[in-house]
Amino acid sequence: MLLRAADQDGRRMTDAELRDQLMTLLVAGHDTTATGLSWALERLTRHPEILTKAVQAAQASAAGDPEGDDYLDAVAKETLRNRPVVFDVGRILTRPVEIAGYRLPAGVLVAPGVGLVHSDDRIYPDAQRFDPDRMVGATLSPTTWLPFGGGARRCLGATFAMAEMRVVLREVLCRVELVATDAPAERQKVKHVILIPHRGARITLARHLTARPTAAVGRSGSAQ
Ligand code: HEM
Repeated sequence: MLLRAADQDGRRMTDAELRDQLMTLLVAGHDTTATGLSWALERLTRHPEILTKAVQAAQASAAGDPEGDDYLDAVAKETLRNRPVVFDVGRILTRPVEIAGYRLPAGVLVAPGVGLVHSDDRIYPDAQRFDPDRMVGATLSPTTWLPFGGGARRCLGATFAMAEMRVVLREVLCRVELVATDAPAERQKVKHVILIPHRGARITLARHLTARPTAAVGRSGSAQ
């Protein structure tokens, strides 16, 4: 599709432009989603009751029940709140602005504290707690849930990433039995521009499950 894509004048992309598009997909799209999923499994295996609920949701989702999808989406949303993958989304001011009493001149780099907003107890009661139920049916504000950044440059792949997370979680939870652990939470470690689990989100599988779900892609994602 990229090779065939053309603009209104029929001009196709140069090799350099094609390379840039592929780099964007790989760099912006792969590591971020893979890390979000790693955190989801790290979180689930440390919360046995939520893991059990997620397995039931995965089975429901595989059977075509939208409530199963909703809970898996809630797991993904809560994971990205509790363990945001990208911690910095910078903007350079094009004109002076006053934020919270600070007068900032044009040219200054500003960045919202994604992790700080996500761990504010006034917005998310008992914010440190991993609790997907708080995301079920919740209307998320772009100023208080911002794992995908915001505004005109918000992540282009957000809806796709949420759909990927749902499908992968469903398939993993239906195919293997994960062992819950009382090991301490993994620390957030900076890798380039993202925060990864410092031990690589190690998990233990009890066994492979024989009954495999038929992979229905399900409804389109609803990243808000
Ligand atoms: C959980 C997975 C992902 C996370 C946490 C994430 C997060 C982000 C963040 C925070 C930004 C910066 C937004 C801003 O400046 O306001 C961004 C930009 C971007 N992301 Fe993602 N992303 C994810 C998955 C993806 C995927 C799967 C794709 C593509 C398939 C993608 C493509 C992009 C692109 C193209 C931009 C640049 C948008 C622009 O500057 O206009 N991302 N992402």
